[in-house]
Amino acid sequence: MTEKNFILKGNVCCSETSTAFSITENAYLVCEGGLCAGIFRELPEKYRSFPIKDCGDNLIIPGLTDLHIHAPQYSYRGTGMDLELLEWLNTITFPQEAAYANLNYAQKAYSIFTEALKKSPTARACIFGTMHVPATELLMDLLEETGLKTMVGKVNMDRNGVPNLQEKDAKTSAQDTATWLEDTLHKYQNVRPILTPRFTPSCSDELMEMLSVIQKKHHLPMQSHLSENLGEIAWVKELCPDTDFYGEAYDKFGLFGGECPTIMAHCVHSPDAEIHLMKERGVYIAHCAQSNTNLSSGIAPVRRYLNEGLHIGLGTDIAGGASLSMFRAIVDSIQVSKLRWRLVDDTQKPLTLEETFYLATEGGGSFFGKTGNFKEGYEFDALILDDTSLPHPQELTIRDRLERMIYLGDDHIITGKYVSGKKIF
Ligand code: GUN
Ligand code: FE
Repeated sequence: MTEKNFILKGNVCCSETSTAFSITENAYLVCEGGLCAGIFRELPEKYRSFPIKDCGDNLIIPGLTDLHIHAPQYSYRGTGMDLELLEWLNTITFPQEAAYANLNYAQKAYSIFTEALKKSPTARACIFGTMHVPATELLMDLLEETGLKTMVGKVNMDRNGVPNLQEKDAKTSAQDTATWLEDTLHKYQNVRPILTPRFTPSCSDELMEMLSVIQKKHHLPMQSHLSENLGEIAWVKELCPDTDFYGEAYDKFGLFGGECPTIMAHCVHSPDAEIHLMKERGVYIAHCAQSNTNLSSGIAPVRRYLNEGLHIGLGTDIAGGASLSMFRAIVDSIQVSKLRWRLVDDTQKPLTLEETFYLATEGGGSFFGKTGNFKEGYEFDALILDDTSLPHPQELTIRDRLERMIYLGDDHIITGKYVSGKKIF
């Protein structure tokens, strides 16, 4: 028997559909070879030899996926929150990221970040590093050790930075990217490189062309930002006068989904044509509700994206978002959708707990393949949740307990975490 054959016994909660929970009380959740074999009320004969961990009355849910987070920004989260995007980037973010030229600083900061991510509800994440190759490789080394499954990007930025946070030119940026890929493409079991042009204002046309060639050569996934802030969108229009909308500024270089899986963060102000192109190209939207609130970016029309069948998951967008917790990302997504419904468009109903739980699990998790659910054949990513620290006098259903843990719980309620069948803690 391998260590990846085992059973968790408890109250198993996952998504039945994108709008409904599947809740099985006192059930056997079977992991076979790192994959989920199913949820059973009675344990089938063939699994009787597997060791059982009895989780008692605890809840067991799939691991969560953070589709958009900046690792170097973790150190200053929760500060400088009264600015809009472009001013925040110039005065806070870029100077802070410049510090990662120093590997000693990177070691300290990234050790703190990876330890926090390990303890959080996040099982998988798509992560921005900085433009620095050594620091980004260090981040990848540290993440590999956590056992979490991640995609990590060395950031490309050859224009409109600050003096100590901007690559020399397009050629240097592309060469650094090639070096980084050579070092990391086949180095890890848990970490994969993802192409990461910061956003259009940071990347010259020449650089975008080179990145497109690199992407196609290695069939790399990609992550970037799109239509986050109105000032940003107006600036992209000035920088790319030949485009009708922001997404075209990526698409004209072949950097907008299609063959290579792509995540665009935010999409708060995407026009119809951009939404249609994202759908056509299978682009994933990372909805970052707290960041969009903190930086006064707006409220993304998530209900519309769901109705139109786009791929969508949730992101914390540290440090635009101050909280690392994907539980909080679920709550923030529900809350801003209620404000949008009440104040912006009363035809678009708010998001429900069931829907946002789906986005945080299988919605974003599907970017990594079959993850974020306990269906047969899915990667076995699981969290064990203990709510005894949240006492209550009344009877609660399992669904109510789950909702309460998402609204009230912090990392302490997570007493066990598994990724691809591997015990993280
Ligand atoms: N757009 C370009 N860079 C960034 C960043 O670091 N954070 C956010 N929220 N938006 C960006
Ligand atoms: Fe971001």
